[in-house]
Parts: sequence; C-alpha cells; structure tokens
Amino acid sequence: MGTPLLEIENASKIFHLKPMFGATKEVVAMRNISLSIQKGKALAIVGESGSGKSTIGRAVTRLFRLSEGSIRFKGNDISAFKSRAEKLDYARSVQMVFQDPFAALNPAHTIRHHIERPLRLHSGLSGAALVDAVRQVLADVELDSDVALDKYPHELSGGQRQRVNLARAIAVGADLIVADEPTSMLDVSIRKSVLGLMERMKTQRGITFLYITHDIATAHYLAEETAVMFAGQVVEWGPSQMIVSNPQHPYTKVLLDAVPNPCVRLTHADAESREFAQGVEAVRELARKPAGLPVEVEPGHFVRHRFEKRDAA
Ligand SMILES: Nc1ncnc2c1ncn2[C@@H]1O[C@H](COP(=O)(O)OP(=O)(O)O)[C@@H](O)[C@H]1O
Ligand SMILES: [Mg+2]
Repeated sequence: MGTPLLEIENASKIFHLKPMFGATKEVVAMRNISLSIQKGKALAIVGESGSGKSTIGRAVTRLFRLSEGSIRFKGNDISAFKSRAEKLDYARSVQMVFQDPFAALNPAHTIRHHIERPLRLHSGLSGAALVDAVRQVLADVELDSDVALDKYPHELSGGQRQRVNLARAIAVGADLIVADEPTSMLDVSIRKSVLGLMERMKTQRGITFLYITHDIATAHYLAEETAVMFAGQVVEWGPSQMIVSNPQHPYTKVLLDAVPNPCVRLTHADAESREFAQGVEAVRELARKPAGLPVEVEPGHFVRHRFEKRDAA
C-alpha cells in the first residue's frame, strides 16, 4: 500500500487547566491514538461532543505540540519542520474546513477574491488563465460563477458558503482536508449534497479527507474507514461498513442506536428511556477507563475494550 499520506502514531494530548481557584486539572483530550489514511481516501472520526475529535484535527494542523507520540505527513514528522518554507508548504497542503461556514470567510470580500487570491499566490496565475481557473474551481464545487463570483459571503446560503470553503481548499492545492463537522450547521436537506461533493473531490481529484462527524450513520458515504472515539480514545475502528453492520464496542452500539432520531433528547420521561439513559451512562463509564489491547474481530476491524490485567502480560 505504500506510505500513508497521514500517520498518527501513539499520539496523546493532555491539557493542564489552572483555574484561578482550586487545584490544577488534567484533561486527557487524546489518549494513545494511532490512525492512518492513504492518499485519496477518507477516514471518519465519529463520537459525541467532547470525545476529542477536534483535538485530533487541531493536532494534525499543528496547532499545538503533542504530549506524546508523533504525526507524519508523507513520511515526515510534522513537529520537526524547521524552515518557514516547510511550515508554509504544510499549511498549504493541509486545509481545515469548519462547522461554521462563515468562520474562514472574510465578510468584506467577494467570492472572487476568496478564490483568486490562493490561485494567484500558489499557482502564479494571472490574466485570462486566472479567470479560467477561478471558473473551473467554482464549477468543481458546483457553484455557478455568474451567480456567485461577485457576491459576498453573507449573500450565499450555508451550503453555498461551505462549497466556497471547499473551493478554496482546491485552489490552494490541498492534499488533505480536515473537515470538522462540515455539514452539521447546514439544513438536513443539503447535507448529503455537500457530503457528495467531498466524495467527488476525493475520487476525482485524489484529495484525502479526515472527516470529523458525530453522525456515524452517514460517515460511510465519504469515508472508507471509520474510527469511533470516546473520552479521548479510539475504541473501535475499521472499514466503515463493518463498523455500522457489525459494531463490537458497547459505545459504538450506543452511537448507532441514537441515530434514527438524533434530535430527540432523552427526557427520562418513561421507564424505557430512563433505562436507556442509565445504560448509556454505564457504557460511558466503561469507555472512560483506559482501553486495552486491540482485538481484530474481522479483517481490518479492531475493537479495544476496557484495559484488563491480562493486557499488560
Ligand atoms: N485548549 C484546551 N484546553 C483545555 N481543554 C481542552 C482544550 N481543547 C479541548 N479540550 C478538552 O478536550 C476534550 C475534547 O475536546 P474536543 O476535541 O473539542 O472534542 P470534540 O471535538 O469531540 O467535541 C474536551 O473535554 C475539551 O474540554
Ligand atoms: Mg469538535
């Protein structure tokens, strides 16, 4: 298979919180994470809020140093980049797309500006070639140039804005896109089309995706592989279809059970939902403990249950 585009090896991140009052607290946001993605593939990281998904994304974009472990991109340790050129090249190759499609767009500039600038800077294009390239990039994300080019971000819909963000990643020539809940702020009706667009960017342009989502059920539309995270640990990972059709870890089962109606909150109103809520809490308690050695349940499909004494042997 060759060297993966991205390799995360035994990565941990501990945040030390020093409140004004009280004792210093440690938050283990990532614990011994090992994951890899081949070029042109997508890996989904799924889990509920606070499980550590964004921390992985931020670590990959070099926003902080790991407490332990390493991240390699095309075989090179990303914490070892020394020169400005190396750092800039990495920052160009790895682009982040956020949940809020407004976050990365400048409200004072038109869509034309947002796409032209990276094409000029990174591909050295100008004149008619630049005009053509801008149109091509917008066409790639299924935006009509005539309609979109001279608009400002606030004049577009949420889905269109997210398309502009993806177009920008294409314009800078990104190899890897870290998409952190890219569809969760969009209307349900257009989520699938944005997911479909990312799928085509992957298959047609060979762009690799680290796809962060709490939606385990739709992850397989984009991602060949899925890793399930809870409390900073990956508890189960493997081909997305196997994770969905043959979940092994109780936490993965909880995530899948919650899927049919993610909008309904557990109200504790009746005995059944009270029992479910208690069951979920019990699973959470279990999954919070350090996980044991990985067990391969079918080819490429791994689960890590609670650490047992025999794991240490
Ligand atoms: N900069 C930080 N300082 C302290 N704690 C943090 C920081 N970033 C994340 N955390 C903590 O790490 C855990 C994982 O957070 P995060 O990666 O944002 O989860 P997710 O994206 O899955 O919702 C949470 O408990 C969060 O409070
Ligand atoms: Mg997050």
